[in-house]
Amino acid sequence: MSGLFEMLEAEEAADRFGRGPIPAAPYYDPAWYADEIEAIFKRQWLHIGHVCEIPEPGNFIRRELDFAAAPLLIVRGKDGEVRTFYNVCTHRGTQLTQDDSGKRSQFSCPYHMWTYGTDGRLLSAPDFEKFHVAKEDCSLKQVATQVLGGLIFIHLGPDPAGSVRDQFGALADEFDKMPCAQAIATTEVSYEIEANWKVHYDNFQENYHLRFIHARTGGPAIGPANPMGYPTHYGFNGPHRSQTLWKNPDPPQLPASMMLSSMRAAALPQPFARDFVKTDFKLFPCLHVVWLSPDTMFTHTHMPVSATRTRSRIRMYWASESESASRAFAREFAMMSLRDVLSEDRDAVEAAQRGIASGVLETINLQDHEVLLRHSYQQVVARVTDWRAARARGSHV
Ligand code: FES
Ligand SMILES: [Fe+2]
Repeated sequence: MSGLFEMLEAEEAADRFGRGPIPAAPYYDPAWYADEIEAIFKRQWLHIGHVCEIPEPGNFIRRELDFAAAPLLIVRGKDGEVRTFYNVCTHRGTQLTQDDSGKRSQFSCPYHMWTYGTDGRLLSAPDFEKFHVAKEDCSLKQVATQVLGGLIFIHLGPDPAGSVRDQFGALADEFDKMPCAQAIATTEVSYEIEANWKVHYDNFQENYHLRFIHARTGGPAIGPANPMGYPTHYGFNGPHRSQTLWKNPDPPQLPASMMLSSMRAAALPQPFARDFVKTDFKLFPCLHVVWLSPDTMFTHTHMPVSATRTRSRIRMYWASESESASRAFAREFAMMSLRDVLSEDRDAVEAAQRGIASGVLETINLQDHEVLLRHSYQQVVARVTDWRAARARGSHV
């Protein structure tokens, strides 16, 4: 990871990014949230799925992006291409399917049977001669779609300025090396949480809470030499972040070691490398990528639903099908162990949101080891500020 990020110790990072309190309103204010959606979420490539979910022509998955009221169908076409369409019939708007996933050779609208190919083109429509439009003008509305390391990204903007590789810069090549690039199966947990997307994402950008919230599971990252379990370095690359976790030379054995042994069992046959340097990407705007062992990784994505609600999806990737019950169990166990750790965070995150949304605080306080939150906030502010200036000039699209 060295070279990909500028790695700084906490105080050096604070020298760079500041130390004072930051405003609280961006963490609950609906007007700020509305501008974030325009300034960020409609202008970034967003991770939305994995190619192994749609392995064959005609396979599709459905996704709802609440922040943009965007119902999406991600489809592998007969030509093998992965495309994303709005799940909206071009006759009078009916959603084509309510199924979460499936396989179709074509998509027929249930209302009046307009029928579309897997490439989104209108193939047929009853009594079409009574309409006064061309079939070519009635294709499903499409959303820009690109694949990086097997991960599917979409961009809701009308004309994305750059590719998903451009968005991640030097980090993009790392995706090609990660297990997601080879994955043919995933295990996932998806959930909603009563918290602003930043309040929730920030929970995974600091270890300050480890000792208190994860007393049961956080043992490996805490030791006498580092009683708070702080990372040793924080990494910065443009809008993206990383951290280097401290390695406890004498970690306690249970129960976190159960999780690791399960992940080891769940992974591919290669030996588990104890000295594997864990990758921990916190990618702008809302993607968390953790590469735990040569064959084990997870992604955790946080999509806003409202100013105070977020839908998250955590997913582990596997390079083979579960060929045995014990392998299948190990994978589920690994996923459930991750879920257990997350469930420890949940109450604290929701309580933080309720408190901050009361409006009692004008500012919130960040310490040096919360510098990733500060960097994240500054990235958001920069984009919202630019967006507001463009709107004031009347030049935004
Ligand atoms: S709304 Fe789809 S065919 Fe009429
Ligand atoms: Fe946590």
